[in-house]
Amino acid sequence: MKGRVAIVTGAARGIGREICLKLAGRGADIVGVDLLEEELAQTVKELKDKGIKATGKSTNVTDAGAMKEMVKGVVEKFGKVDIMVNNAGITRDGLLLTMDEKQWDQVINVNLKGVFIGIQAVSRPMMRAKYGRIVNMASVSGVMGNPGQANYAASKAGVIGLTKTAAKELGRKNITVNAVAPGFIDTEMTRALPERLTEAVKPLIALRRLGEAEEVASVVAFLASDEASYITGQVLIVDGGLRM
Ligand SMILES: NC(=O)c1ccc[n+]([C@@H]2O[C@H](COP(=O)([O-])OP(=O)(O)OC[C@H]3O[C@@H](n4cnc5c(N)ncnc54)[C@H](O)[C@@H]3O)[C@@H](O)[C@H]2O)c1
Repeated sequence: MKGRVAIVTGAARGIGREICLKLAGRGADIVGVDLLEEELAQTVKELKDKGIKATGKSTNVTDAGAMKEMVKGVVEKFGKVDIMVNNAGITRDGLLLTMDEKQWDQVINVNLKGVFIGIQAVSRPMMRAKYGRIVNMASVSGVMGNPGQANYAASKAGVIGLTKTAAKELGRKNITVNAVAPGFIDTEMTRALPERLTEAVKPLIALRRLGEAEEVASVVAFLASDEASYITGQVLIVDGGLRM
């Protein structure tokens, strides 16, 4: 990935941080986007200490204007955008009966609209360059459904439909668009769940353990690489055998 320029959203911690480290390890220049400025600065420092060309942007993925400006800045500074990883996401869990509209709107806004905005922001420069690798973060929740996650599952199922449509529209410009659907991965997001819930899910996972963020990052790196040049519109499930 030497000479490739990658934007990763939700880069401050968890899976996004590992994606930055993985892509950087393979030679890409990194632009990390997140709202958690301190943690993001930490990730960027870690990359720079390793001699990687990296920068952090405190941009909200739900703000179309700001995302467009951010991409414009990246193109001015780095000359192009080769890879876009739309990874930022949130949960606001609750049962359907009691879920309020705010919980619904927040999750759809960040997880689904944020990905739409991210794809749109990089589409023009990628089309001009006739090269692009877009990887969107879905979830097995969007494939299977999950009690307590009507908003989240709907947003992630939406990401899958959006990914397939973008793949069909952008394919003729040599831009691939794929999704990764993780199962239970050990990050702040799952650490916020009650322990009895994560313990209860383990017997349902063929590998009998939660995944590591790095195990998702390596799949993202593959889809973002030239090795995946003939894969587009796919959803790669990384769940230790939970859904099969
Ligand atoms: N952890 C899991 O088990 C799991 C499973 C399936 C899918 N995922 C998905 O993987 C992605 C990463 O999740 P994670 O587990 O690393 O969670 P995380 O909470 O550790 O990281 C998410 C990051 O996204 C950032 N973010 C949130 N809203 C944002 C916004 N509006 N603009 C910019 N940045 C924003 C957060 O600040 C945070 O740094 C998410 O899309 C999540 O839905 C996670």
